[in-house]
Amino acid sequence: MSQEKSISFIAKQGAAITGELRVPGDKSISHRSIMLGALAEGVTNVEGFLEGEDALATLNAFRAMGVVIEGPDQGKVSIQGVGLHGLQAPQAALYLGNSGTSMRLLSGLLAGQDFAAILTGDESLSKRPMRRVTEPLARMGAGIITADDGSPPLQIRGGCELEGFHYPMPVASAQVKSCLLLAGLYAKGTTVVTEPAPTRDHTERMLQGFSYPVDVCGSQVSLDGGGKLQACNIEVPADISSAAFFLVAASIVPGSDLMLQHVGINPTRTGVITILRKMGADIQVLNERLVGAEPVADLRVRYAPLRGIQIPQDQVPLAIDEFPVLFIAAACAEGETVLSGAEELRVKESDRIQVMADGLQDVGIQADPTVDGIRIVGGIIEGGEVHSHGDHRIAMSFAVAAQRAQNSIIIHDCDNVATSFPGFVDAAASVGFNLAEC
Ligand code: S3P
Repeated sequence: MSQEKSISFIAKQGAAITGELRVPGDKSISHRSIMLGALAEGVTNVEGFLEGEDALATLNAFRAMGVVIEGPDQGKVSIQGVGLHGLQAPQAALYLGNSGTSMRLLSGLLAGQDFAAILTGDESLSKRPMRRVTEPLARMGAGIITADDGSPPLQIRGGCELEGFHYPMPVASAQVKSCLLLAGLYAKGTTVVTEPAPTRDHTERMLQGFSYPVDVCGSQVSLDGGGKLQACNIEVPADISSAAFFLVAASIVPGSDLMLQHVGINPTRTGVITILRKMGADIQVLNERLVGAEPVADLRVRYAPLRGIQIPQDQVPLAIDEFPVLFIAAACAEGETVLSGAEELRVKESDRIQVMADGLQDVGIQADPTVDGIRIVGGIIEGGEVHSHGDHRIAMSFAVAAQRAQNSIIIHDCDNVATSFPGFVDAAASVGFNLAEC
């Protein structure tokens, strides 16, 4: 169904990275705003919604289940909530493109419906592990089937009675936690999820914003099924995962001084700032404020020489999406950077350990992958040609690398940048990147 697309980027050293930029809205929060808005009673108005393909996949899935949604129009979306039991059976399989968050969260939400549904995705999503959600959902009573190897499509039977249970998560995953909490809305009794390390808590915060009681006690989150969500207004902050490309770019290009505006700084997402500062980066967190349930700030970042570090393991889940670009920071640092305890990177939109190691080697940097991490020796980025393997964050990371490279870098397979960062090329060029599509 999808046509062959083949956007490549050509990037090379540009100017210092300067000025001001507000990157697009947070992807995780945008997904959740549609899901909870659809299940609420009343109209939810969202501002700052990410008009990227992933969040739009979620939006379209709810439209296909009968929810009236206006927009998005310049980040504004208005959702006419149908209540917890008002969704309608979709007429066809729900196609979720590249979006793991859509599929994993929807699997929990749909397990509690009285109709059946099928969830499908693109080539990358079709390879991603789903047993991490289907196994605990089955223990709650859900009827849900994956392909033989545990990958999509997911066939959800519907009409099953769910029961709350206590699930100690084996993996630190916000998608698994959120999936089970969404199923828990439909379950009899209490659903309790314990996480082995803190993961992003947008679902918990947003449920509370929709007046749904959620109990958070240390590493344990619990809720009772059978309540109601009350519509509310949501302002989505700029995505720190998108801001990360600019935090690194300004840190590695001499003379840079950049202000990133209105960035979400939820403490479960700020590992990238902690890690970069430990490497010597000059990042100031200014004008901290609370926007709805989420903390927001402006981030000023100036060039600073970086040094290699051992990345603290407790920061891994807090920076899980930012490692591709953190590896670029490591390539520009003096000395060696070592990451371990990050095997989850192998099951993201691509195998981010292998694909980044290959790309770094291709542009002249020593990068040795390990089972659960990587060792990168800082050096001179020579330039060359790399493949993103359809992974948006890999493509953008090498556009950043090129800003410190001796020669240009051609980056293949960049179409999926639109999943999380529509307008990336223009935004990057506006603050000094030398970057174009080709
Ligand atoms: C997400 C959680 C993370 C992250 C993903 C978005 C979310 O995945 O990598 O991009 O919105 O809950 P995991 O839960 O698999 O770590």
